[in-house]
Amino acid sequence: MSKKIGMIVGSTRKGSFNRTIAESVASLFPDKFEVVFPEIGHLEMYEQDLDDEGQTPESWKKFREEIKNLDGVIFVTPEYNRSVPPVLKNAIDIASRPYGENVWDDKPGAIISASPGAISGFGANHHLRQILTFVNVHTMAQPEAYLGSVMNFINEDGSVKEDTVKFLQVITDAYVAWFERLEK
Ligand code: FNR
Repeated sequence: MSKKIGMIVGSTRKGSFNRTIAESVASLFPDKFEVVFPEIGHLEMYEQDLDDEGQTPESWKKFREEIKNLDGVIFVTPEYNRSVPPVLKNAIDIASRPYGENVWDDKPGAIISASPGAISGFGANHHLRQILTFVNVHTMAQPEAYLGSVMNFINEDGSVKEDTVKFLQVITDAYVAWFERLEK
């Protein structure tokens, strides 16, 4: 049976560089993996009262189920003001609750950050690492994946440049090895 990897993209922007990078990574996985893109932009802002009072939104229930069914997760994210975009933090919060039902738990993970800026989303990458540690995603430490000046790695037709694809293949292969080490 194929293993299911979720690519969680921290941008909902039309023409997102991070989505382009995530789609390229998805295409580089070996056949034994199915790669899916759980969407996060439509999720209502997390509010604990809704869970506590039995008014959990359908969108949260579906998202939690979607994440629960994944075998692994890769986060591909921009940086907003040196941290993670709120849409991504919201999605992580939703799937970490209610208390005791954290569906991120024990999944092998990886982070790729991409930015038009020179420091490549380093702040977001490491804030995300901190968050994922708490929700018990086992995030690959090396090799790290920072893509600064990301617009230079994408062709006019929207495809990713060959050298960047080679780099993304290194990251994908390392993640597959990490996944297989942790696979149950
Ligand atoms: C940004 N951007 C940005 N870039 C960066 O490298 N470091 C940062 O701290 C920020 N901060 C920031 C805050 C806000 C509110 C916005 C809207 C943007 C720029 C950001 O990297 C750029 O818009 C990317 O293109 C977003 O990624 P996608 O949508 O192309 O994937």
